[in-house]
Amino acid sequence: MAEETRQDGTGMRAAVREVYGPTDLSAQPMFAGGFINFGYWRGVDLGLPLGEAERVRSQEDLYRRVLDSAGLPQEPVVLEVGCGLGMGCAVTLREYGPTAVTGLDIHPEQLRRARETHAELLRAERGRLRFVQGAAERMPFGDGEFDAVLSVEAAQHFPDLAAFAAETARVLRPDGRAAVTSFFTVDDVPGRPEELATLLPTFADGLDIARPVAALADAFTAAGLADVRVESIGADVWPGWDLWLSRWWAADTWPRNFRRAYEGRVLDYFVVTAHRP
Ligand SMILES: C[S@@+](CC[C@H](N)C(=O)[O-])C[C@H]1O[C@@H](n2cnc3c(N)ncnc32)[C@H](O)[C@@H]1O
Repeated sequence: MAEETRQDGTGMRAAVREVYGPTDLSAQPMFAGGFINFGYWRGVDLGLPLGEAERVRSQEDLYRRVLDSAGLPQEPVVLEVGCGLGMGCAVTLREYGPTAVTGLDIHPEQLRRARETHAELLRAERGRLRFVQGAAERMPFGDGEFDAVLSVEAAQHFPDLAAFAAETARVLRPDGRAAVTSFFTVDDVPGRPEELATLLPTFADGLDIARPVAALADAFTAAGLADVRVESIGADVWPGWDLWLSRWWAADTWPRNFRRAYEGRVLDYFVVTAHRP
């Protein structure tokens, strides 16, 4: 097995351990506000100069897009898988009236940052917010604990989508909702992983895993989830993300090749929703 794909005792792959380790990726200027996602830009006027406020809004709006798609019940008990610095957990808490929000992440450094960033909120909310270490494929929770399982731009790292889907189905209560957003290949035509590895170093080094979006949808169905829906949101992700990146990177350089992969109909950004019967 290649070094970059090897896992440690916690199931964390080497590339994930390195990228989310001592260097805080969220501090890079292409991200902002503690988030680490490409953003949902529909609410941002791309004809006007973009600043940090617009960039933060795009990342918050990606969370709002997923939360709105989930079909949450009143006062839900929410789990986010791959919560990073927990900025999306804070949006959920502030805007969606949950009973409680749990942020789960595999990386201890990310959780340390989350707890530091939200120290005040954790104190003030007295148990309504918590951050827990664990893998998407082996969640440290009991059966039926959550009304909703969300995940934002983390599933591209999960080595085993079938295990993630099975765990999602297990920790959801009956009629609970799942909503996942991330980037996947549009189909399983042979050669997709190699095409992406040529364009994008994060696929070449094993951080991101090239899989068709149908792999997640099928895994949800196989895990017993119902009403599985796949929606492309790429038109509201890639142009804004690419425009933001153009401040630092010329066309045809990493990471602007994400847009190339989208326009070449290789990769897209999706929201996948389902519910537990
Ligand atoms: C791109 S960041 C997204 C963070 C956050 N959702 C956001 O939008 O700001 C991906 C996160 O997924 C976490 N992660 C990667 N693989 C994981 C796994 N197998 N189980 C749980 N978390 C994982 C990483 O540690 C990282 O914090």
